[in-house]
Amino acid sequence: MSDTDDLAELAKRRGFYFGSAGAYGGVAGFYSFGPQGAALKRNVEDAWRETFTTRLGNHEIAGPTVMPEPVFEASGHLDGFDDMLVDCPGCGESHRADHLVEDATGVEDAEAIPIPEVEELIADSELVCPSCGTSLAGQPVEEFNLMFETTIGPGDGQSGYLRPETAQAIFVEFPRLKQYARNQLPFGITQIGPAYRNEISPRRGIVRTREFTQAELEQFVDPTDDDPPLADVADVELRLYPTTEQETVSGEYLVRTVREAVAEGVVESTWVAYFLGTAQRWYDRIGVDGRRLRFRQHLPGERAHYASDCWDAESEIGGEAAPDRLSDDPTAGEWIEIAGFSDRGAYDLSKHDEYGDSEFTVFRQYDEPREVDRATVDPDMSVLGPKYGGDAADVADALQELARRDPDAFDDGSVTVTVDGEPYEVASEVANFAVETVTEAGEHLMPHVIEPSFGVDRTVYTLLAHGYREDEVDGEPRTSLALAAEVAPTAVGVFPLVSNDDDLVALAESVAAELRAAGLDVAYDESGNIGRRYRRQDEVGTPLCVTVDHESVEGGREATVTVRDRDTTAQVRLSVDGLDDDLTAVVAGERSFASLREAGVVVGE
Ligand code: GLY
Repeated sequence: MSDTDDLAELAKRRGFYFGSAGAYGGVAGFYSFGPQGAALKRNVEDAWRETFTTRLGNHEIAGPTVMPEPVFEASGHLDGFDDMLVDCPGCGESHRADHLVEDATGVEDAEAIPIPEVEELIADSELVCPSCGTSLAGQPVEEFNLMFETTIGPGDGQSGYLRPETAQAIFVEFPRLKQYARNQLPFGITQIGPAYRNEISPRRGIVRTREFTQAELEQFVDPTDDDPPLADVADVELRLYPTTEQETVSGEYLVRTVREAVAEGVVESTWVAYFLGTAQRWYDRIGVDGRRLRFRQHLPGERAHYASDCWDAESEIGGEAAPDRLSDDPTAGEWIEIAGFSDRGAYDLSKHDEYGDSEFTVFRQYDEPREVDRATVDPDMSVLGPKYGGDAADVADALQELARRDPDAFDDGSVTVTVDGEPYEVASEVANFAVETVTEAGEHLMPHVIEPSFGVDRTVYTLLAHGYREDEVDGEPRTSLALAAEVAPTAVGVFPLVSNDDDLVALAESVAAELRAAGLDVAYDESGNIGRRYRRQDEVGTPLCVTVDHESVEGGREATVTVRDRDTTAQVRLSVDGLDDDLTAVVAGERSFASLREAGVVVGE
């Protein structure tokens, strides 16, 4: 079995995650997190919230997961959110054409290649269906929209979609959110929640699913004025893989501090660089292996329809290449995207401003009133009325809106505006377009958006893959998960050495209750021999185990217990009095286990 199979087996056996609805045969791309996995995921979300919402002074919202079609018409997802699909003429199974090409030819980022070239690559490489072996040469490759469609309300209802990113539930509320921020840029809004993509071929467990959890931050900035607090992360070192290196034969990683990356122009947007530094620190904190983490810039053809620049955080999950090689050679290892850092510019807000009925701009007061040119229209209703009847007023409003948003549209002899999906062509002279000089106190500014977007499930997978260990303890093979204490599902295992001694059990139960009262997640276990109980906790990544033995009971008010460290299996005897503070400090990362050993009585050496 490969490491990946071992990990999937452990995940299922120990309750991290498993394919959902197994009793009904399951359905590809949907997973349930069991008790351990749900706790790990929740801890990752809490750590993310603490860093990207609380510490950065942002605010979190919770929007709906279903939104009406016009939202996604405006956002561009209806037209541009597609993957390449190829159907097998033999068994009828659908495949991601770009993935087949990548797997078979070594071509990277095939999704950036135009469809006719992908069709050629399939034919030239004589690709066959991975399921039944039928040749795929000559099969058409088609765009497949990834959104799940639904009907809102009974009957024909209204067409809606499950959100493909949490971001849109933030953008559509911008007209209110800007008021809560008192029209002051910059401000950041976060959201953690489910998003849905009807993936052509879900794969690798929770890595590519059809329902997944995102943690997203939309940072609204004034592009002419706002700078991030770069000094906070200026010294953080990043392993960067920019497009220039990807496009060079034997291209290399550039290891740069955030300060250097900005100064040298490797990362163009200071906001993006700031969030890369913040993310690197966060990844270190939650236990992502730094040797298996990199930031890769999207190639131009790979970028989402809304992004002008994007860097992905990628983690290595193959586990087969030596860490040193992974550090130096970008082609080594198997990498997955775990976060994207996009410069979305004014794309989203200007689209919603155009399609929606509210203003998606913020008003910026000038220091002094200014004389400015303003585009106006004064539509001739004696022409529009007879021509467009009941729609004439809406056409006039649409002309006003167009003059505000895009005055250049009136340069030609006529303009076309859309009302309720219908195009109306109006001669410029009927619109009476003019530019007049007026004195204004400020301007309506379209904010730009910088977006750090994290895949929570993939982050959880990365922590499991990077924490997975196989070693030997007391001559026996052991599997363990070296999870950071802050995110481990269970913080402390508590065991009575034997289960047939009432005093010992009573003391162990009271120790467990005290640790729970201190806010620690505790697993109490009295079944099986003590070695087996340690193994069970090692396998779910519990960093500390406490064993209550006869000596503990005999200690009375001075009782001591044995505390064992998961990774080293080293032990120390500590007083029950103050145990909650000691262990809480270790779990919070404020103390090391080694410092407990200095304070207590070392056991077993
Ligand atoms: N909001 C970015 C993404 O969903 O990929």
